[in-house]
Amino acid sequence: MDSLAQLFEETLKDVYYAENAILKALPKMVKKTKNPELRQAFEEHTEQTKGQVRRLDEIFKIIGKKASGKECLAIKGLIGETEEIMSDSETPEVLHAGLIGCAQAVEHYEIARYGTLKAWAEQLEMQDAAQLLDETLQEEKQTDEKLTSLAISTVNPDADMGEDSEESEDDESEGVNAASMDEEAEDEGATTSRKKSSRSR
Ligand SMILES: [Fe+2]
Repeated sequence: MDSLAQLFEETLKDVYYAENAILKALPKMVKKTKNPELRQAFEEHTEQTKGQVRRLDEIFKIIGKKASGKECLAIKGLIGETEEIMSDSETPEVLHAGLIGCAQAVEHYEIARYGTLKAWAEQLEMQDAAQLLDETLQEEKQTDEKLTSLAISTVNPDADMGEDSEESEDDESEGVNAASMDEEAEDEGATTSRKKSSRSR
């Protein structure tokens, strides 16, 4: 690899693989989820992801290459962790909180990738590609925010009703909402850090 154009193409293959892997994982998550709002969010994101794959197809056309994926170890790892949550969670409430955490890890991976690809497309003066990448980027950010709201409004408080809600579990509240990442995200969309503790004692 010796050019930004090549790097762009390789990274496009990475997200193409990632989106298709997500498309396979989401129906399993829908099946496992008992929370209707969360299930609906996963269903909607499945449809959205199909559109994102179509945008990638268009971008491959723009650069005159055949659409293809290249194994992405990062997404494989994140999906592997999601499968672990699905098999290890002993209550639906814990499962739902865990699934949101995993889904947000995936969203943040995609936000990073699409942000980079958009910047490279602009650098390479491919405005149409940059526009398509931005549309997907905004969708991923909205999905991330929706998951944060769901976690805070229902899923985390439900999961907190477990029998051993002792002091030692407080550490867990740090990770699940992925809100800490928002402070680092410089892009205009991901500004909410609506993190609040459901344990007010
Ligand atoms: Fe996506």
